[in-house]
Amino acid sequence: MAVLPQRDPARNRSGGALTEPPIRAMIVLGTRPEAIKLAPVVRAMDASPLCEPLVVSSGQHREMLAPMLAALDVKAHADLAVMRDRQRLSGLTGRLVTALDAVLRADRPDVVLVQGDTTTALCGALAASYEQIPVAHVEAGLRTGDLYNPFPEELNRRLIARIARWHFAPTERAAEHLRAEGIAGPDVRTTGNTVIDNLHWMLRQGGGEAAFRTTGKRILVTLHRRENQGGGMRGLAGAVRRLADRGDCEVLLPLHKSPAVREALLPGLSGHPGITICEPLGYPDFTATLAACDLVLTDSGGVQEEAPSLGKPVLVLRTTTERPEAIEAGVARLVGTDPGEVYAAASLLLDDPAERDRMTRAVNPFGDGRAAERIMDALLRDCLRPDALRRRARD
Ligand code: UD1
Ligand code: UDP
Repeated sequence: MAVLPQRDPARNRSGGALTEPPIRAMIVLGTRPEAIKLAPVVRAMDASPLCEPLVVSSGQHREMLAPMLAALDVKAHADLAVMRDRQRLSGLTGRLVTALDAVLRADRPDVVLVQGDTTTALCGALAASYEQIPVAHVEAGLRTGDLYNPFPEELNRRLIARIARWHFAPTERAAEHLRAEGIAGPDVRTTGNTVIDNLHWMLRQGGGEAAFRTTGKRILVTLHRRENQGGGMRGLAGAVRRLADRGDCEVLLPLHKSPAVREALLPGLSGHPGITICEPLGYPDFTATLAACDLVLTDSGGVQEEAPSLGKPVLVLRTTTERPEAIEAGVARLVGTDPGEVYAAASLLLDDPAERDRMTRAVNPFGDGRAAERIMDALLRDCLRPDALRRRARD
């Protein structure tokens, strides 16, 4: 296993102010949303002379991750290439823990950062704790209260909470969930969600293009969740097709790479003149597309967070959500997965301007765009304390 590159010490000691070597923070990510939500932390750490970020890509997503990292200006120093076609959770977990163990032993970071609730995040936390390296959990404390929905994410996030030393909660409600589980004290911090930092960064960069072909009513649809796959997702495809049958709107569906998703959606949605199906969009184009749409139908976590920032109404095609903040703000509705109800809820918004207007407000229940800064400051403050939990295997 290659040892990760070391930062040029001269860069870290600009001004000669540093007497300590920088904190070596290993950032473990493997899927599209982890790249999106950790990129702001990597950028903040990269800009600090006190910190040396080492990005390890697990490669849980083979095709969807690399272009995302490139668009976000994040360079992975190692790629563990664990993805297999139609991977099962147990096999993925085994490959991840083994591969991450090797990279952790070779490079011995001071702290490991994981994000959210993917199998990469769980295995990053587990492998680090086997090496007794402290773990920081970004986007901690999200809960639906149902261990099997979303699956395996609710399980993963609860397990990571038991392992992590630092818990960066995106909202006060998420921090409360942790306290209710007995995880309290100064290591639970409410920071906002880094997805908002990244959205602001992307909008500043510009350059994306909306993927809609027409200028009528525009509906953006994304679906991928494991618990929706199979019959549930086929039913949702039926609801989406009925919407396109109305003839007054364009449905755009950037398709997740998962074969299970494609098998469920393509038979019902292909070949309809009102439905545009495309490969996953790059982040610049996806954010431009989101900004250009009138309505979002999604089971995605990240999209539920981004859409309210852009003032886009969201129908959440799931039976639970760990992001009630958008629903309480009135800009998202949890409509479930019953095709008839999904069709009715979407039609209501398309037909009734007053209903739509009520949901069309730009609000930011998920953060102010400064989450990464808060996360880095908190980590640096703790890690630079002389009595802090610091591991300096190379010292
Ligand atoms: C994973 C995460 C989920 C997250 C989602 C974001 C787990 C268990 N699931 O779900 O929490 O919301 O990513 O998108 O961690 N595939 C490719 N190329 C890719 C990516 C996926 O071919 O770039 C195919 C492979 O056949 C793979 C399958 O999709 O086996 C499923 O990928 P996987 O990462 O296991 O699950 P996701 O549904 O993507
Ligand atoms: N996204 C993207 N291109 C797409 C679809 C989604 O860049 O074609 C981005 C989107 O902006 C969001 C993230 O991917 O930030 C969500 O990923 P996904 O829905 O796969 O995962 P989840 O957030 O549900 O874990």
